[in-house]
Amino acid sequence: MKVPSVKGFHDVLPGESGRWAGLESAARTVFTQYNFDEVRLPIVERAELFRRSVGETTDIVEKEMYAFDDRDGTPLTLRPEGTASVVRAYVEHAMHAAEPVAKLFYFGPMFRRERPQKGRLRQFSQIGAELIGRDDAAADAEVLLLLYDLLADFAVDGAEVLINSLGDRTCRPGYRDALVAWGRAHLSELCPDCHRRLEQNPLRLLDCKQPACGALRARVPPPRMLDHLCEPCRDHFARVQELLAARNLHPRLAPYMVRGLDYYCRTAFEVVAHGLGAQNALGGGGRYDGLVKHLGGPDIGGVGFALGVERLAIVLAANQAAAPSAPEFVIAPLGAAAEVAGTVLAHRLRRAGLRLEVEPGERSLKSQMRHAGKLGARYVIILGEHELASGRITVRDMAARQDLPHVAGRGGGAAELRAAIAAAALAPPAAGLERHA
Ligand code: HAM
Repeated sequence: MKVPSVKGFHDVLPGESGRWAGLESAARTVFTQYNFDEVRLPIVERAELFRRSVGETTDIVEKEMYAFDDRDGTPLTLRPEGTASVVRAYVEHAMHAAEPVAKLFYFGPMFRRERPQKGRLRQFSQIGAELIGRDDAAADAEVLLLLYDLLADFAVDGAEVLINSLGDRTCRPGYRDALVAWGRAHLSELCPDCHRRLEQNPLRLLDCKQPACGALRARVPPPRMLDHLCEPCRDHFARVQELLAARNLHPRLAPYMVRGLDYYCRTAFEVVAHGLGAQNALGGGGRYDGLVKHLGGPDIGGVGFALGVERLAIVLAANQAAAPSAPEFVIAPLGAAAEVAGTVLAHRLRRAGLRLEVEPGERSLKSQMRHAGKLGARYVIILGEHELASGRITVRDMAARQDLPHVAGRGGGAAELRAAIAAAALAPPAAGLERHA
């Protein structure tokens, strides 16, 4: 009986996994250039961590967490995002004691029980970065530059960065009041969810997906946070944009963009990709001053972002085929004695760094060659009676459809083999060739 995978939980298969590894390795390079270090954090956390950071009234905490009680009754959850975990670790390990500024990146799965659709899963993977310990605008600009560099190095085409300021403890309450007044004035036109949002989390009125609420916002634009910013928030936001403009980067102002997590203040941003459909956010992030203190640490700020790997993979798959994965060499041993020699040679060459496959010795040369072709091998090392007797190997260049000159002995190493291949490339065709068709 087949046991299927769980809805919203996907396998990443060979081919596709190569694309993921490529993204992670490109990201690792850029993170290192920006002096970020990797953290690997647990997938299970106390549920309270996200209640207190992401926010009690957010969709994530209200309806999407995979929360459960441990056997001793401790409420736990699969992590729905990475920022709270990074801040928890920063506080728990008193990273600020030695050096308040921590620049940390992470890769890994997150879990949200959303309705699955294209680009929206219940287990998805993020590439994220957090710069903790700085509250100046240059830190926001650095994180945004890092984000732009990642998108460029991933070769993501047609993505756009949207930016907004969500204000801070000083100016947001006034804005909140203005938004509530707008909502009350149009109560009869708001959906039932927005009635509730109006009381609990009015910022969420701005991104309600109900058509009627969208139509109302288009007809009677709600107040904008940007028009309610206090002077320090206004200066901070202007400086972020000025620093980006100095690199000729101009994220698009999106005055009604609010994020689905409550910890943000001041700069908030999202990367959207045209052509991704409804789930068009490739990534998002922003500043979260107050979060470190709220989770028991010092009163310092932070800023970061996370990109969704599945969504990046969809965008990249649209214009780049998954990289084929093939062994460079296949060893084709003919018979039991050759199989022993093949095993020894394979072991030695693999330890020397070659990617290599060995065929079973009982098959005919024809079937071994056919299979090596199917695997996409560049070279086949043929070990037959003749080779065993002479102590030399025959290397077939699959692309050129000819054998390379006999130079490498069975006891030879990878360097010798590569030298043989290089020499063959220089040698006149047919010089010293021996056919094994
Ligand atoms: P987020 O906007 O909730 O932010 O998620 C970031 C990205 O994760 C999204 O833009 C999307 O690409 C991907 N994502 C989210 N949910 C799903 C899903 N159900 N299926 C597939 N992909 C998904 C955060 O998580 C913040 N922690 C980002 C951050 C870091 N802010 C500051 N630092």
